[in-house]
Amino acid sequence: MALRVAGVAFGMAAFTGTHLLLSHPPVRQDLIAKLGDQKFKGLYSMIALGTLVPTAFFYARFGRGVGPRLYNTTSLIQRLGGFGFKALGAITFSQAVTQPNPIVINANREPGAKITEKDVEAKGIYRISRHATFMSFALLGIGNVLTRGHLSDIIFWGTFPIYWVVGSTMQDERLKLTYPASYFENTSLLPFHAVIKGKQSLKEALAEMSPKSAIIALLAPVFFL
Ligand SMILES: *[C@@H]1O[C@H](CO)[C@@H](O)[C@H](O)[C@H]1NC(C)=O
Ligand SMILES: *[C@@H]1O[C@H](CO)[C@@H](O)[C@H](O)[C@H]1NC(C)=O
Repeated sequence: MALRVAGVAFGMAAFTGTHLLLSHPPVRQDLIAKLGDQKFKGLYSMIALGTLVPTAFFYARFGRGVGPRLYNTTSLIQRLGGFGFKALGAITFSQAVTQPNPIVINANREPGAKITEKDVEAKGIYRISRHATFMSFALLGIGNVLTRGHLSDIIFWGTFPIYWVVGSTMQDERLKLTYPASYFENTSLLPFHAVIKGKQSLKEALAEMSPKSAIIALLAPVFFL
């Protein structure tokens, strides 16, 4: 039991720890200088997948609902909240993958190429949070934290919302060196913050979203029942 909880904790620590280490500017710059930009990106993805995928398998097979139960999860509020957050996560994911993300597009540029305001214009879901893909996992994580209650579940699912904030903040710090400052003024990490500040229009965001992908994302789980 304790071993299984430790396994989940170890896996998530390996995933977040290696990710943070490779994003740490001195380490990152040193590796890019040694390996080149492309090889560094390959290594980065390989380590991310190589730690997260086995951890997710371990959790699914051995780690669900183990360790002490920290709270009960039977209340209607928790169940409705859990469903709501998971559904929002699925919708957010469907929009994040169907709308081009300025950060991903610009990651494939020549190093040192000038990034203009036009290159980093946020559309659709990215008007709501500039880190929408991370956010979709964070929402899924919050939904699962609400509806499960064992230590292993909280460690596994709780890492996603924390990592959304920490990892996105670190990525922003790095992008601020090359991106136009107005990108960060016009968008936000926290959902709807830029909309509330009047920098983004919710109407335009909704008009640019894909209702079809949202419906598919909500219906897809039915086929796995
Ligand atoms: C959960 O509910 C059960 C039954 O009502 C109760 O005995 C138990 O102490 C509760 N557990 C927690 C962690 O609140
Ligand atoms: C930010 O908003 C201003 C004013 O609406 C606009 O002129 C500028 O192009 C925007 N910049 C980006 C990167 O979206």
